[in-house]
Amino acid sequence: MMKHIKGNVYWVGKVDWELTRFHGDELSTHKGSSYNSYLIRDEKTVLIDTVWQPYDKEFVSRLKQETNLSKIDYIVMNHNEIDHSGALPELMREIPGTPIYCTKKGEAIIRGHYHQDWNFVTVKTGDTLPLGKNTLTFIEAPMLHWPDTMFTYLSGENILFSNDGFGQHYATETLFNDTVDSADLMYEAEKYYANILNPYSPLVLKKIQQLLALNLPIDLICPSHGVIWKENPSQIVEQYLKWADAYQENQITIAYDTMWQSTRLMAEAIADGIHETDPSVTLKLYNIAHEDKNDVLTEMFHSKALLIGSPTINYGYSFAVAGLLEMMKGLKFKQKKAAAFGSYGWSGEAVKQISGHLQEAGLTVVNEGISKLWVPDSQNLADCKEFGKNFAKQL
Ligand code: FEO
Repeated sequence: MMKHIKGNVYWVGKVDWELTRFHGDELSTHKGSSYNSYLIRDEKTVLIDTVWQPYDKEFVSRLKQETNLSKIDYIVMNHNEIDHSGALPELMREIPGTPIYCTKKGEAIIRGHYHQDWNFVTVKTGDTLPLGKNTLTFIEAPMLHWPDTMFTYLSGENILFSNDGFGQHYATETLFNDTVDSADLMYEAEKYYANILNPYSPLVLKKIQQLLALNLPIDLICPSHGVIWKENPSQIVEQYLKWADAYQENQITIAYDTMWQSTRLMAEAIADGIHETDPSVTLKLYNIAHEDKNDVLTEMFHSKALLIGSPTINYGYSFAVAGLLEMMKGLKFKQKKAAAFGSYGWSGEAVKQISGHLQEAGLTVVNEGISKLWVPDSQNLADCKEFGKNFAKQL
């Protein structure tokens, strides 16, 4: 169903209440998501972005009920990952000659995905498209988070269509940020940033600074996922400036795996030691084999220090910890301190190997970690507590 946004701008996207995993199985989406597509009805009619491919027929058939497709003068594709471009083939079957405005990389990606010779018009930063009363201005935003990404700004209504930037995987019928629980919303926005945009933080900072220098009046930020930032839209821009700048709170996250509870006992004793040295720090412990990895990574993103624990298994570390370390390497957390711990039965390589991976992931490893043989006894646990005390002092 078409929903009015502001002036002559309408939402024509798809709310996906069922989505629990995104990017294949890479990202959990506990609150569903939406694929936001927008229709501008000025003297010219423009469609901004489409929806994910499984909803292509539904999208086009609903759009047909709301508007004469042949009246769409232009299609703007801000980013062409399949969750936004997936309905293009279905749409272009109906209006094959309609120009598609996108970046040069965008054209390459659409061609690479759909192998069609559509009517592409490539644009660069500062290019404009007059619609009658108002004008669209294109702003390239490469690697936020794909090379093709751009933002599109609509004058007059003062709307920034930001695609994935400022988005959240958050299904809602009510569309606007002032209609949802603000803590839930900020958590989902942070999870989105930590798990998708953080590797590109230096580019995010630069792009936002460029955007602010343009001094554009912005009444609404319309991302391609989740709610529209209507009440105080600058709040998410300010938050992005913080998140992109080696963000951290006074938190330490301990993530571990355990086979027979020994590494868990070590984790808890280390936590005791940290707490005794610094009662002000927020401590969070997760068994990474059981917890949602994207939620744990979000906790890590806003921590100042991380402790990773694994028993030694087959001369290495556990499968769950391996997955976590691989994800940490890709997410490029900045300015966080770290150490490793774990129990072992004979060879005990895990702690050294984890420390190496933490270093590779760009963390500052502050000590050589702690290993304990078999089930820790009271002396071993006292050592772990002492390790925790020293770790807190090393921060
Ligand atoms: Fe929402 Fe990068 O696609």
